Amino acid sequence: MESNGTIRIAIQKSGRLSEGSLALLHQMGLEFETYQDRLFARCRNMPIDLIFLRDDDIPEYVQDGVADLGVVGSNVLDERRSEVARLLPLDFGYCSLSIAAPEREAYRSVSDLDGKRIATSYPQMLRRYLKQQGVSVKTVLLKGCVEIAPALKVADAICDLVATGSTLRTNRLRVLDTVSQCQAILIGQKRPTSKKKRDIVERLLIRAKGVQEARKFKYIMFNAPIEALEPIKKLVPGCKSPTVIPLAEPGFIAVHSMVLEEMFWEVVEKIRECGGRDILVSPVEKFIR
Ligand code: PRP
Ligand code: ZN
Repeated sequence: MESNGTIRIAIQKSGRLSEGSLALLHQMGLEFETYQDRLFARCRNMPIDLIFLRDDDIPEYVQDGVADLGVVGSNVLDERRSEVARLLPLDFGYCSLSIAAPEREAYRSVSDLDGKRIATSYPQMLRRYLKQQGVSVKTVLLKGCVEIAPALKVADAICDLVATGSTLRTNRLRVLDTVSQCQAILIGQKRPTSKKKRDIVERLLIRAKGVQEARKFKYIMFNAPIEALEPIKKLVPGCKSPTVIPLAEPGFIAVHSMVLEEMFWEVVEKIRECGGRDILVSPVEKFIR
């Protein structure tokens, strides 16, 4: 696939990261259609093509220059140590790489698996981890459907990704230990590409960061007595300072600011203690610093 300056972005075709990846790209202002098992989508408003692949193949595609950007789980990168640039952790697609065994077996920890067989698509990470634990096992390398290996008697346990935990439950497996934590990450090429491409990648990165920053904040508006302004400024400092507007009713102000999502309820309770009322909150769609 030779390129004419069009950027190719690789995302997971169907799986844990698909929905989050598509949502991110839409929030970054890319306009495109996709449905069911499409393998490709062309953006209407930017020189960008999306390609839908197995997540495990995405690092190689980016490394080899077939795709310019990709969204993958950090687990895949840690396993393969591909030559790609880790551009931005994306704060979704959280999961863990865990060792799990059949519920009915009496294994209590990984040390009980010494000498047993573990099926996995992550042999390197598993090997490194078990070495630290001083446990030696036989790894059975599988590319997919790892969870059915114990039922097929191909392995005694598995080492695979766990997100919601429903795959394990369906297959009557339970976690014994966790090898590492993972999340989705935006990757790009290490080697230099054309200026035209670099410019688009740079723009996309600013947008992706803007989307991510926005998710951390809420926009908050409320009314308060003017005497409460000083403590309120401390509660909702915003970027520089909150916006303060006098109300038609003398002695009252309206305050507009940003609040970190994780502090939200705490801050709202304190605003109320200061006399703040009629608190309106809305999501922040984009936030470019
Ligand atoms: C991983 C893993 C399980 C699933 C676990 O697959 O192999 O199938 O996610 O998620 P759960 O705990 O929510 O059930 P992935 O999306 O990486 O697809 P792949 O196995 O086809 O690479
Ligand atoms: Zn996978």
